[in-house]
Amino acid sequence: MGSSDIVDFIPLIGFGLLLTVLTAFLWYVCKPRNHHSLRSVAILVLGDIGRSPRMMYHAQSFAENGFVTDIVGYRGSDLTPALERLPRVQARYLPEPPIIVKFLPFVVAAPIKIIHQVVSILLVLLVYIEKPPEFLVVQNPPSIPSLALVQLVGRIRGSKVIIDWHNLGYSILALKVGEKHPFVRIYKWFEATFGYSAYAHLFVTHAMRDHLVKEWDLQGHKVVLHDRPPRHFHRSSAQETHELFRKIQPLIASQKGLSDFLPKYSAPYSTPFTHTTREKSTLSPTISRAVASSALHSHRAIVSSQPNTPPAEGLPNYTEIRAPVLRPDRPALLVSSTSWTPDEDFSILLEALGMYESRARELEATGGSPLPKLLAIVTGKGPMKKKYMEEVGFLQRSWKWVRCISLWLEAEDYPTLLGAADLGVSLHSSSSGLDLPMKVVDMFGCGLPVCALNFSCLDELVKHGKNGVVFNDASELAEQLEASG
Ligand SMILES: *[C@@H]1O[C@H](CO)[C@@H](O)[C@H](O)[C@H]1NC(C)=O
Ligand SMILES: *[C@@H]1O[C@H](CO)[C@@H](O)[C@H](O)[C@H]1NC(C)=O
Repeated sequence: MGSSDIVDFIPLIGFGLLLTVLTAFLWYVCKPRNHHSLRSVAILVLGDIGRSPRMMYHAQSFAENGFVTDIVGYRGSDLTPALERLPRVQARYLPEPPIIVKFLPFVVAAPIKIIHQVVSILLVLLVYIEKPPEFLVVQNPPSIPSLALVQLVGRIRGSKVIIDWHNLGYSILALKVGEKHPFVRIYKWFEATFGYSAYAHLFVTHAMRDHLVKEWDLQGHKVVLHDRPPRHFHRSSAQETHELFRKIQPLIASQKGLSDFLPKYSAPYSTPFTHTTREKSTLSPTISRAVASSALHSHRAIVSSQPNTPPAEGLPNYTEIRAPVLRPDRPALLVSSTSWTPDEDFSILLEALGMYESRARELEATGGSPLPKLLAIVTGKGPMKKKYMEEVGFLQRSWKWVRCISLWLEAEDYPTLLGAADLGVSLHSSSSGLDLPMKVVDMFGCGLPVCALNFSCLDELVKHGKNGVVFNDASELAEQLEASG
C-alpha cells in the first residue's frame, strides 16, 4: 500500500521539514474551531483509492452508518461497487502532478511535485469540502506530507483526526536505503511527531498497537481492526473457473513453455483446468443449443434435469453440453501474489519449486506414487518482477513437472483465481514485523489453503496447522507443496 511510492519521497523529506515549520507557524496562528457539521468524514489516501481496499471499507462503513463521506486520493482502479452505489459517498480525486515535471531535472521536479501535492490536498480538505468534516481519517504510510497536513486541517477546521496505521513508513524506507540512513531518521521523527497524538488510532495488528504505544506513547483512543476479506469472496465453482480460464486463455497461450505442459484444450468447450461433457438429449435442437450456450456462459448452468434417463420414444436424440467440471488431468494450481519488492523474497518460492521438480523426478524414477504437475501463477507488478521472471524462464527450460508464470489480472478476476487454486503462498515478511499480509486474508476469504512465510506477528492471522501452514525457508515450503500435492 503505497510502499513503492516511498522512494519518491526521499528527496522530498527536506520539503517535509519546510512544511513542518509552516505547519508549526499555522498551528499557532489558527485557533481550533468547533463548527463542523455532525456525521461527516473525510478520508485521505495518498495513493490509488481503488487499490486501497481497507480505506474503501472505512468509507463504506461510515457511509452505511449515515455519515456524509468524502474519500480523497488519486484516480486509478475502479472503486468497489458498494462505494459507487452508496449515495452519501463522494470520491474527490487529487490532480496528478503537471506533465511538465517529467521533463525537468529531478532537483527542480521534486519540489514542484510536493508543493503541487500539498496545495491540492489542502484545497480539497479546506475548500472543496465545504462543511468541516467531523472526522478526518488518514492512512499511514506514507506519512509525508499527509500526517502533517491532516493534523493541520484538523486544527483549522476542528475535525477529529483518526490515523489508520497500516505499517510504519520509516521501516519501509529503511528496507530500501538502510536503517542508518539519515533520511530514515528524519522520516521516523516526522512520523512520530505528527502521528503520536490523534483522536483515535486504528491498527492492523495487536503487535502494531503494542509497539507504538510502547515506543511513541501514542495519545488517543486505540482500536485494533484486523483486515477482513470482502464479503463476496468465495470458493470458485467449476463454472466460474471455466469462465476465468476462457477469459485469460490468450494470456495463458502467449506464455512460453506452457503448450506442452498443460493438457490439451479447445475453447470454448475446455480449458487447461475444466472441460464440458456431452450427452444425448431429448431436447429440440434449438433448446439444446440454448442450453449448451447457457451452460457455457451463465453462472447458473442449466444441466439436463434427468441426465441418465433414455430419451422418450420417437423423439430424436441431440447432443447437449453439460456444465463444465474440473478435469482430472489438470495440473495443481498454486497462486502467489506479490508486489515484487525487497520485503518479499521471491527466491524462496523459486527454490521450493526447484525442489518440488527434483522430488517429482525422483518419484518418477523410483516408481513411487507420482506428484501432480504444478502450475504456479504469480500475480502483481513491481520492480523486481523482470529479474525473477527471467530467472524462472531460464530454470524451467529443463523442468518437466513445474511451470511458473506471471499474470496481471483485472481486479474482478483475482478472487476467482484465488477461489479456483489449490494452494496460496504468501512471501510477505513485513518491513516492521507489525503488519499482516492482506493477500492471506483474501486467500482465506476464497477458501484457499495457505502456506505463509513466518515472521514475528504472523500468528495473529495464520495459526500453523489450524487454518494454514507456516514455513521458515524454502525446504519447508517444498515439503508443504509436496504434502498438499
Ligand atoms: C437415441 O439413442 C438411443 C441410445 O442412446 C437409441 O437406442 C435410439 O435409437 C436413438 N433414437 C434416435 C431417434 O436416434
Ligand atoms: C514463527 O516465528 C516465531 C518467531 O518469530 C516463532 O516463535 C514461531 O515458532 C515460528 N512459527 C513456526 C510455525 O515456525
